[in-house]
Amino acid sequence: MSRTIREIPNTDAPMELLMELLLIADPSEEKIRSYLPKSKCFVALDDGVTVGACAVQALGAGVHELMAIAVHPAHQRAGHGTALLKHVIEFYRASGARRLEVGTGTFGYQLAFYQRQGFRVDRIDHDFFIRNYPEPILEDGIRLFDMLRLTLNYPDRTTP
Ligand SMILES: CC(C)(COP(=O)(O)OP(=O)(O)OC[C@H]1O[C@@H](n2cnc3c(N)ncnc32)[C@H](O)[C@@H]1OP(=O)(O)O)[C@@H](O)C(=O)NCCC(=O)NCCS
Repeated sequence: MSRTIREIPNTDAPMELLMELLLIADPSEEKIRSYLPKSKCFVALDDGVTVGACAVQALGAGVHELMAIAVHPAHQRAGHGTALLKHVIEFYRASGARRLEVGTGTFGYQLAFYQRQGFRVDRIDHDFFIRNYPEPILEDGIRLFDMLRLTLNYPDRTTP
């Protein structure tokens, strides 16, 4: 297995494939279409085949939000998601960002996936999925209501 992580310009991103992957993480195609043009896209390739994708949107003042990250089910648990997340974290660290944020509706293994890379629990956005999605969203048969907000703060490099 030869893994590569790279940024792809969202103008020539393979839309169908990107959409297929991002829909694993975010069930709303409409929402993905609205944030994708404003996002940076990163993909994970395994022997040249795109197996994972991630979209990150700038919120302003050095703060960026990871809007979606997903690995194709056939390629999960092989380290691609962790490699993609680590790459994104280092990319924004190198660009001088202050903070990376992510919201998740599932408080299952995804929570540990982010915490392992230094994300900390910030707050709970109660009823987020009721306010933002017209249809109930189920994950592992459980209806999602609340969004857990996680934050990774980069150390202030101006402080000695
Ligand atoms: C979250 C996701 C991107 C992780 O990608 P991945 O390539 O499978 O992750 P990794 O192989 O790097 O796994 C890292 C660790 O996460 C945990 N993990 C990943 N998938 C898991 C699963 N299905 N069940 C339990 N733990 C899991 C494990 O602890 C794993 O380490 P291990 O395999 O050594 O035990 C991927 O599972 C995915 O696309 N999930 C569906 C979409 C999603 O939930 N996105 C996040 C939205 S908040």
